[in-house]
Amino acid sequence: MDAKQPGAQTPDTARMSDPDAAAPAPDAFFMPQTWDPSRYAANARFVAELGAPVLELLAPVPGERILDVGCGDGPLTQKLADLGCLVVGIDASAAQVEAARRLGLDARVGDAQRLSFDGEFDAVFSNATLHWMRDPDAAIDGAWRALKPGGRFVGECGGENCVAKVRGGLERALARRGIRMEDHNPWYFASASEYSDRLRARGFRVESCEVFPRPTPLPKDIRAWLETFAENFLRPIETAGRSAFLDEVQEDLRAALQGPDGKWTADYTRLRFKAVKP
Ligand SMILES: C[S@@+](CC[C@H](N)C(=O)[O-])C[C@H]1O[C@@H](n2cnc3c(N)ncnc32)[C@H](O)[C@@H]1O
Repeated sequence: MDAKQPGAQTPDTARMSDPDAAAPAPDAFFMPQTWDPSRYAANARFVAELGAPVLELLAPVPGERILDVGCGDGPLTQKLADLGCLVVGIDASAAQVEAARRLGLDARVGDAQRLSFDGEFDAVFSNATLHWMRDPDAAIDGAWRALKPGGRFVGECGGENCVAKVRGGLERALARRGIRMEDHNPWYFASASEYSDRLRARGFRVESCEVFPRPTPLPKDIRAWLETFAENFLRPIETAGRSAFLDEVQEDLRAALQGPDGKWTADYTRLRFKAVKP
């Protein structure tokens, strides 16, 4: 995070006394995705709702200072604050940070690949964010520096083969337009061994790291999911053609991802880990 970003402050409270006192800056760096809190709440509330097991792995203790990396609109940050933790949320999206602040949380705009916290936290936590890091080592390095000695880094995100079927549908529709998917891929879906190696290379002791399938029922259809999470693949397509593109991907994926009851399920996998800074 650079000097322009408010995340460089020292955390001192679980909740800001006046959350409107310092409005978040507009996104200060390129993001592959616009995060619209109302669309996110309608189409992606399951992301935080399914975060209970990683919170359990974190095992937060009241009074601990915790950094929530990619806090989004703050539902899990709020759980940590409600438990009595002194939690600071960081998110790249000014709109998501604003939504988190409306909950009374200490949320700040910042890039998780450029964190500047120094030995301040008992734990660094992250849910559903680290696969958006195109420079995963920078994110791991920032978590390392933010932790006190003995602190833990506990996270969950998309892992190897995450949404492989969805990506297949996107890739086919892009290829029909002469576009290479990899040129627009915002995601990094690591295997457990690869991510463990990265954590160990930075000095972490890896207590657990696993990738497992987590088929995820969606609140709406796959088109709504794509609109919420796959914006970067729409960028190379002219605006007038985007709706047809989404329809085409949805039709392609219908047989694979829609059940006989009409409900859609995305083929998520999760990478979940706990690592300790000795
Ligand atoms: C799927 S949401 C998860 C939000 C929250 N952790 C939850 O469980 O609901 C992913 C979040 O990661 C944030 N994000 C993406 N890239 C980021 C980056 N480089 N630095 C910080 N946050 C980032 C997005 O703005 C978004 O709010």
